[in-house]
Amino acid sequence: MGPYADSIEHALALLRRGEVIGMPTETVYGLAADARNEQAIRRVFELKGRPAQHPVIVHLGDTSQLPEWAIAIPPAALLLAEAFWPGPLTLVLNKHPNVSPLVTGGQPSVAIRVPAHPVAQRLLQAFGGGLVAPSANRYGHVSPTAAEHVRDEFGDGVPLVLEGGPCEVGIESTIVDLRGAQARVLRPGRIQPAQLSKALGSVVASGKAADSPRVSGDRTRHYAPRTPATLLPTGQLRSQLAAWQAAGLRVHTLALGALPEGACGLALNADPEAYARDLYAALRQLDRAGADRIAIEQPPDDPTWEAVRDRLKRAALAAP
Ligand code: TXA
Ligand code: MG
Repeated sequence: MGPYADSIEHALALLRRGEVIGMPTETVYGLAADARNEQAIRRVFELKGRPAQHPVIVHLGDTSQLPEWAIAIPPAALLLAEAFWPGPLTLVLNKHPNVSPLVTGGQPSVAIRVPAHPVAQRLLQAFGGGLVAPSANRYGHVSPTAAEHVRDEFGDGVPLVLEGGPCEVGIESTIVDLRGAQARVLRPGRIQPAQLSKALGSVVASGKAADSPRVSGDRTRHYAPRTPATLLPTGQLRSQLAAWQAAGLRVHTLALGALPEGACGLALNADPEAYARDLYAALRQLDRAGADRIAIEQPPDDPTWEAVRDRLKRAALAAP
């Protein structure tokens, strides 16, 4: 057993004392804390090194608790909850006056998600209230998709990481803002605009509106390995690798489907869901290899790859 054993009881006791724990979800692991305890929320920000004005998602056990956290809940929220909760979808709604400004970054909106992972479900059902749970990585770094990634990030800083196995989705939830006349995707994820439109019976917008709330994945360099990473179209991969090699650089490649002959690195499945599931573990592994550079083969320019392309773009921006 040991400190990372699947101990819901222990987790509950820690959360009730205002401590922060690692919690598995089907998307990525989160750093969970009581969403009604400001001390505990401050500790989450401190651990992550995240700026205070960045809002966090409130995780609930089921939809029935929604009115404790949001007001003026539109019918669209109930349609999407019905279709996708529990699951990898986050809804942005008007916040209830009792929600701490530490949760919302002082904004009038609150982000809410009901996760599907069985360990998260058991914990939330037993806890009965809301848990904030930003991804359990240091600010700007790659999100964790295994309990050991959380321990790598925080070591003894977190007293318990609940074991939940590898995350099934592997990238963060789709975030949809439901406060305007038209639903709007603020962060792409496994659940795609076409699925949302179908459930709502109306077209969903994507990207930022002028008055969109802040989304921390907005920060240009995000989900990023420490090794500088470059995105390359398939057609340029070989020649660029050869050029770097000639310049004496050690390059590791994250390829799509298969590694080019002679290249070092990893190949991920050329299916968007399988690729997303393995992406962050692959970036961590390539980072540990300590090359001078990571070359990432660009996935297809197709809507099913949108969420992956979004994460890769941010991972690959030149280091500041
Ligand atoms: O899949 C997920 O959503 C994971 C797992 C652990 O649930 N959590 C996650 O949390 O990705 P975090 O804190 O790393 O990202 C939360 C995102 C941020 O981009 C944040 O800006 C956005 O949600 N967010 C939170 N509250 C918001 C609000 N009121 N309005 C708009 N965006 C909000
Ligand atoms: Mg995050």
